[in-house]
Amino acid sequence: MTTTVRRLGPEAGAASRRLSEEAFGVPATPSEPGELGLPGWHWWGVVDGDRLVAQSVDREFDGWFGGRVLPVAGIADVTVAAEARGAGVLAPMLLALLEGARERGAVVSTLWASAPHIYRRTGYEVVAATRLVDVPSAVLGAVRALGDVRLRRAEVADAERVRGLYDAWAASHDGALTRRGVSFPGTDEQLLARFTGITLAEDPDGRPLGYAAWVRGRGDGSGPELSVPDLVATHVDAYAALVRALASFGSVASTVRLRTTGDDLVRLLVPSLDWGPVKDELYSLKVLDVERAFTGARCAPGLAVELGFTVAGDVLPGLDGAYVVTASDGVVRCVRGPARDDRTLSPRGLALLVTGARPSRDLRVLGLLVGGDPAQDADWDALVAGRVHGVLDHF
Ligand SMILES: CC(C)(COP(=O)(O)OP(=O)(O)OC[C@H]1O[C@@H](n2cnc3c(N)ncnc32)[C@H](O)[C@@H]1OP(=O)(O)O)[C@@H](O)C(=O)NCCC(=O)NCCS
Repeated sequence: MTTTVRRLGPEAGAASRRLSEEAFGVPATPSEPGELGLPGWHWWGVVDGDRLVAQSVDREFDGWFGGRVLPVAGIADVTVAAEARGAGVLAPMLLALLEGARERGAVVSTLWASAPHIYRRTGYEVVAATRLVDVPSAVLGAVRALGDVRLRRAEVADAERVRGLYDAWAASHDGALTRRGVSFPGTDEQLLARFTGITLAEDPDGRPLGYAAWVRGRGDGSGPELSVPDLVATHVDAYAALVRALASFGSVASTVRLRTTGDDLVRLLVPSLDWGPVKDELYSLKVLDVERAFTGARCAPGLAVELGFTVAGDVLPGLDGAYVVTASDGVVRCVRGPARDDRTLSPRGLALLVTGARPSRDLRVLGLLVGGDPAQDADWDALVAGRVHGVLDHF
């Protein structure tokens, strides 16, 4: 097999849809101008002669990390034709795609892996998750009402309020997508049409405190009776009022399926152990630009450190090397610099460290961090202390 990696344009639409359908069972729906021509989608493929044998797409997103927004390359639709699997076409395709993503300014790349191991050799590691949980309506109904919260159905005119509430939630979660920009083009009407209803929680003066976006099932046992893709709030009173409203479907929906970030805040309101995980999905990240991945992140204002480390073993040309990270006045900065000692991170260790997904001691246990002075690990952990991970969008 003599293969070539190249960008795919709309001309590859039919072959691409066939590969997707074979791998994921997605129906081949013709679209105008075709998914391969949509703004914010950068398709790459591997061809053997004129046959498409692998494909993947780099999608333009922005994500919250360390209190500021970074450009994200969201990888999706990774497919190798059945006959070409294990033949070594995946690695060069991902490399070309990631170099392209880096050229367009992406700082990190993320993906929802069907199996995380597939991407570990490329330097991805799991930094966040979503967990679908089923909670009996009666249990949610037992959450105590708090404060004076008014509920009302969101109308088209409220779309920007809903987005604002999501923004407030996302800004405090590492990994959350901004839901703005080229990959979230929907109108206000389309935002509301995605759900059976969006219930807004407000204080007595009409200030928004939270919302639940919910979808009523068909009522024929073919799926969850009531699903809640988004339940976000800036105040506990709103969380309590919203879960009680969801529980009020109890006579027709005995359980409510919540999409959560795993250890979600809502769980701390639930009065019993009835919190049944249905499905976990894992979100993996790889750093494409070390300096920008650190620089600008917020840290404790009292923290003043200067730390050095080396990255070794990355697949991207030029990424390996020594770096210096400083923290002062509540902001982290990173530049290339001389190695101070032999503290060395693998790309997967870097992904975990820069997002604060795991403390340094775990990286050492996993062999993703070696060398350096272990006593200094606490300074590294302090750089990313207090981060909460959460991402609710699948792609
Ligand atoms: C997943 C897929 C793209 C891998 O292609 P491939 O040509 O088999 O990939 P490679 O042989 O280069 O394997 C890369 C690594 O992933 C591992 N791997 C491959 N398939 C795997 C699986 N299903 N589960 C866990 N690991 C897997 C390989 O063992 C290899 O590990 P290594 O780096 O330790 O050597 C291909 O099997 C496929 O198209 N599957 C169906 C669609 C799919 O699942 N896509 C992924 C969506 S996130």
